[in-house]
Amino acid sequence: RPSRCPCRLESDDSCEVSFKDALVFDSKPVTDGSATQENGVWERRKILPAEMISRNNFSVWSILKKCIGMELSKIAMPVVFNEPLSFLQRISEYMEHTHLIHKACSLSDSIERMQVVAAFAVSAVASQWERTGKPFNPLLGETYELVREDECYRLISEQVSHHPPVSAFHAESLKKEFKFHGSIYPKLKFWGKSVEAEPKGTMTLELLKHKEAYTWTNPMCCVHNIILGKLWIEQYGTVEIVNHSTGDKCVLNFKPCGMFGKELHKVEGYIQDKSKKKRLVIYGKWTECMYSVDPKVYDASKKTGGDSKKLKQEHSCEGEEADEMPEVQETVTVIPGSALLWRITPRPAHSAQMYNFTSFAMTLNELEPSMERLLAPTDCRLRPDIRAMENGDIDTASTEKERLEEKQRAARRERSQDKEEWSTRWFQLRTNPYTGAEDWLYTGGYFDRNYSDCPNIY
Ligand SMILES: *[C@@H]1O[C@H](CO)[C@@H](O)[C@H](O)[C@H]1NC(C)=O
Ligand SMILES: *[C@@H]1O[C@H](CO)[C@@H](O)[C@H](O)[C@H]1NC(C)=O
Ligand SMILES: *[C@@H]1O[C@H](CO)[C@@H](O)[C@H](O)[C@H]1NC(C)=O
Ligand SMILES: *[C@@H]1O[C@H](CO)[C@@H](O)[C@H](O)[C@H]1NC(C)=O
Repeated sequence: RPSRCPCRLESDDSCEVSFKDALVFDSKPVTDGSATQENGVWERRKILPAEMISRNNFSVWSILKKCIGMELSKIAMPVVFNEPLSFLQRISEYMEHTHLIHKACSLSDSIERMQVVAAFAVSAVASQWERTGKPFNPLLGETYELVREDECYRLISEQVSHHPPVSAFHAESLKKEFKFHGSIYPKLKFWGKSVEAEPKGTMTLELLKHKEAYTWTNPMCCVHNIILGKLWIEQYGTVEIVNHSTGDKCVLNFKPCGMFGKELHKVEGYIQDKSKKKRLVIYGKWTECMYSVDPKVYDASKKTGGDSKKLKQEHSCEGEEADEMPEVQETVTVIPGSALLWRITPRPAHSAQMYNFTSFAMTLNELEPSMERLLAPTDCRLRPDIRAMENGDIDTASTEKERLEEKQRAARRERSQDKEEWSTRWFQLRTNPYTGAEDWLYTGGYFDRNYSDCPNIY
C-alpha cells in the first residue's frame, strides 16, 4: 500500500475522509515485476496507450474560412485537432503544482505566502505551454474527479452549463488546509490566423489555517498560426491576486510577445501591502520559472541594465502581422539576491508524440478496473470518444463524439418539450463570499459515492 501521503503523519481525526477510496484510485502496480512492487510502491502510468495521429492531412482552413469572428464553440472541428482530454480534465491541471499551496500554508509571513500563491497562479497555466490540441467540450452534467493521496487533495468538477459552456471545480486538502475552487467560461474567438481564449471566471484559494482567501482571474491565451506555419501559444493580460482579508494585492503582468519577441512568455509584477507600498517584485516566465526580489534591488538592476521602458499592452491576437513565433528566446536573467519560487517540471521525453502532455496530464484519463466500480457514471474517464482517441482510433472517436452530441441535443429537446429545467448535481449558482459575484459553488456529497440519480449522458 502506498504510504506517501503526508496526511498519514497526522492523527486520524484531522483527516476529513478515510483513504479507502483514495487508495484504489491512487495508482496501479508497477508491471515490470521489480522489487518495488513487493515493497508496495505503486505508480501511475507515464505514457498514453497510443501516439497521436498526424494532423498533416487535414486542412483547418477549409473548415474555418467561413467562420472568422465566430465563437469557436459553435464550429464543428474534426476530432483530429483535439487532445484526448475533456476540458474538465484540462482544468484539473491547475493542481499539478499543489505543493506550492502546501508551502504557502506552512509559511507564517503573509507577504511570503502571497508570493508563493502568485507562483501557484502562474504555474497553474504553465501546462498550456505548446499544448495546441483542443480539449473535448464537456457534455452537460459530465464530471471529473481526481483523488491524489500523495499530494493530499481531492478534486471534483462538473459541466454546469452548455450554452454558454461553464465548468466548475472544487479541490480541497484532505487535511483541511486549503480549498481551491472556481468556474470557467472559456470564450474562444477565431481571428483568421489565430484563436483567442478568454478564460472568464474567478479562481478562489482559501488557506484555512490562516483564514485567508485569495482570488484571481487567469490570463488570456492565444494560439497562433492555426492555418499555416508553426503553432504557438501566447498568454497575456493582467492577473490581480487579491487578499480579501485586507485588500492587499499582487499584480502580475503576463506580457504579450512584443515586436522582437524579447518579452515572449515573460511575467512581471509586484506585491503591495494595504498602504500601497511595494514589498516584492516578482518576475520570470510562465514557461520556465518565477523569482521574487526586493523592489530596491530590482530597480537598481534595471538602472544598470539600461532600458526598462514599459511596453504598451497591445492586443496580440487580433493583429494581422507578427504571427511568427519570435526566435529570440532568452532565458530568465536572474537578479542577484532573488529567491526562486517555482520552476517548471520538464516534459517527459515522449511528450512530443503525445500531444505535448506533461507527466501529470498523461495520468488524467487513466482508468483502472477497480476504479470503474467507484466512479460516477458521468466521469470523463468513461467517455467513449475520448477513450477511443487516446487509443489512437480516430474513426471511432469521431462517430462516438457525434453520437454523444446528438444524444445531448435529443435530451435537451425532450426537456424543453416537458418544460423541464436542467438541474446541476454537485454545484449551485451562489454568491462568492469574497468577490460578491455569482459563482458556482460545490454543495458537497460527491465522495459519499451515491450516484443513483446521476444522468445517463454517454
Ligand atoms: C496522408 O495522405 C497520404 C496520401 O493520401 C497517405 O499516403 C498518408 O498515409 C496519409 N497520412 C496520414 C498520417 O494519414
Ligand atoms: C492578507 O490578509 C491577512 C488577514 O488580514 C493579513 O494578515 C495579511 O497581512 C494579508 N497578506 C498579504 C500578503 O497581503
Ligand atoms: C508540440 O510542440 C511542438 C514544438 O513547439 C509543436 O511543433 C507541436 O505543434 C506541438 N504539438 C501539439 C499537439 O500541440
Ligand atoms: C442514494 O440516493 C437516493 C436518491 O437521492 C436515495 O433514495 C437512496 O436512499 C440513497 N442510497 C443510499 C445507499 O444512501
